Amino acid sequence: MNSFIGWIGGKRALRDEIIARFPASFERYVEVFGGAGWVLFGKIKSKFEVFNDADSNLINLYRQIKYHHKELQEEIDRIHSRELFEDYKFSLKHQDLNDIKKAARYYYLIKHSFGSNRYSFATCIRHSNVQIFYNVFERLKDVIIENRDFERIIKTYDRDNALFYCDPPYINTEKYYDTDFKNSDHLRLKQALSKIKGKFAVSYNDCEMVRELYEGYKIVALSRMNTLQSDNNSSEFKEVLITNY
Ligand SMILES: C[S@@+](CC[C@H](N)C(=O)[O-])C[C@H]1O[C@@H](n2cnc3c(N)ncnc32)[C@H](O)[C@@H]1O
Repeated sequence: MNSFIGWIGGKRALRDEIIARFPASFERYVEVFGGAGWVLFGKIKSKFEVFNDADSNLINLYRQIKYHHKELQEEIDRIHSRELFEDYKFSLKHQDLNDIKKAARYYYLIKHSFGSNRYSFATCIRHSNVQIFYNVFERLKDVIIENRDFERIIKTYDRDNALFYCDPPYINTEKYYDTDFKNSDHLRLKQALSKIKGKFAVSYNDCEMVRELYEGYKIVALSRMNTLQSDNNSSEFKEVLITNY
């Protein structure tokens, strides 16, 4: 199935290639930098699945779908309006809203923003169908949803039979996310992964820093069209998938 949202750096275009390179067998699947979850929603279910992201508004949206999808559905505003968009942006930062309202407003910002960036109002949007959340709710029923820093997740869920799929903010795109991801975090991720008992697959942009950082691991080059550009001129974007198997 598809994800229910777009997301900056979302793996919509590459997910089949990524999933095809997963190990033949693993029992635990841990998606460490979840975002829109294109890979989780695209793969077949594993016995045990964890979905994590450090963005608390995003994870609140997933949790409201998992536990209160009907109530959330009722809160969704279908009016496409710049005023509403600005109002929701303000209220998410400055008002004390309940979790369902927060999730509905965050969803609105994702859906009505340019490139799903949540900050600039999109003048043109595609309207979604009525039961937006039902399939997502069904898929998330047995998935553990976490809202933690990646290192904690990797330590907590590591087992021999685990696969960690990591899609961190790419080098020089860290500013597009609401988390403060620094250069030192790229190193911290590599260090955390180098100690695990399980397997990992990491997506990154193809650049010198990444190739040096993961020297000695298997690095496969992949490419897709660039969706981070704001001028509608898409170009080929080179990525890598790094694995320890
Ligand atoms: C490239 S996006 C993931 C896209 C996702 N694979 C998809 O298909 O939509 C990177 C994600 O990492 C999250 N993130 C940033 N810093 C993090 C951290 N320290 N721990 C966990 N997640 C983090 C961001 O909120 C963002 O959603």
